[in-house]
Amino acid sequence: MLCRPLRRKSRLLRINIALFCVFLVLLLYDALLGPYTAKNATFNQELNYTSAKIHQNQRLFALFWGNRERVYTPHALDQTQKIKFKHHSEICNVSREKLKGREEVHTQVLLFSELEQLFPGHHCGRFHPSHCQPSTRIAIIIPYRNREFHLKRLLLNLIPKLRRQLVDFTIYVIEQANEEAFNRGMMRNIGFLEAKKRFAYDCYVFNDVDTIIEDDRNLFKCGTHAARHLVSGVRRYNYSLPYRGLLGGIVAMTEKQMTALNGYSNMFFVWGGEDDNLYDRFMETNFWFERTDYQDGLVTTLTHRKDKKTVSRFRTIGKTKHSMLFDGISSVRYEVLYEEYKPLFTWIVVGVNKFLIEEEFELNVANTKQRISS
Ligand code: BGC
Repeated sequence: MLCRPLRRKSRLLRINIALFCVFLVLLLYDALLGPYTAKNATFNQELNYTSAKIHQNQRLFALFWGNRERVYTPHALDQTQKIKFKHHSEICNVSREKLKGREEVHTQVLLFSELEQLFPGHHCGRFHPSHCQPSTRIAIIIPYRNREFHLKRLLLNLIPKLRRQLVDFTIYVIEQANEEAFNRGMMRNIGFLEAKKRFAYDCYVFNDVDTIIEDDRNLFKCGTHAARHLVSGVRRYNYSLPYRGLLGGIVAMTEKQMTALNGYSNMFFVWGGEDDNLYDRFMETNFWFERTDYQDGLVTTLTHRKDKKTVSRFRTIGKTKHSMLFDGISSVRYEVLYEEYKPLFTWIVVGVNKFLIEEEFELNVANTKQRISS
């Protein structure tokens, strides 16, 4: 009835009514189709920091209107440390018999809310066993961008194994916001620095988002004398390693080991290579790495159609062979753009500048050459 053309002469009024009709149609569309599209969007991309910011503002709004939902503030102080867990006198003891051993990798992709229901007792990314005192506190760093399916699969498979290992662990998902090529090494460095800022963990485990341990006897722990590579065979390579010096997938290091190596190179804005550079770093220091026993360290890697292996990594491997002193955690530059304490992980979105990093690197190379020649 409202939309029936009116006989009134006034043009202005007609325009107003037309606009009102459009508004009504949009409102109806939103009411009927909105939930459907929103649900799909949620399924495809729950980790979307632009919409997370909007959502956060809505939550702030809700707070003023009496709906006292918890609001996560960006750059909040360390939330993971505020949680108080009961202290137990009995130290957690994991015996191999109590673990399950090798399992099939679950391939379902659940919603984060479903994962949270499946794994209760996690706060701000942290889990602490309830009946004993863990002997170690671990930060798990996951470099991330645009791999939500992989992240969900990793959490589904990894969390129950870590819970059985009875360790106190906090998961950090470090997302590179830029459109630039992904820099996994730098995300690992940033994850280390951000986690360390919050707590001096005994052990930092760097786990690629597409690498899933198959066996809970592959213990997430650090070695006192050596770093640890937690991969002994990759399903894609018929449960072998393509070469002996491979350090990809999952690596565990203490703060001391990470600092001695100056972390990872920041120069790999390209697929692969940063782990080969890590191997070169071990060669230049007194530190070495050990590998999980073959039977425990088998992993599945998830494939992604956008994985593009580039030969330019070989050039960067050559260029960074002796860059350890000035290229790494000491030189990483980044800005935290967004931070949210989700139950299963702390999500940190960072911006990095490829141009600045490369410029500083070249400057350091030139300075080093000058020093050597003078
Ligand atoms: C890359 C590494 C990668 C390995 C296994 C090498 O060619 O440089 O970064 O871990 O292949 O995929």
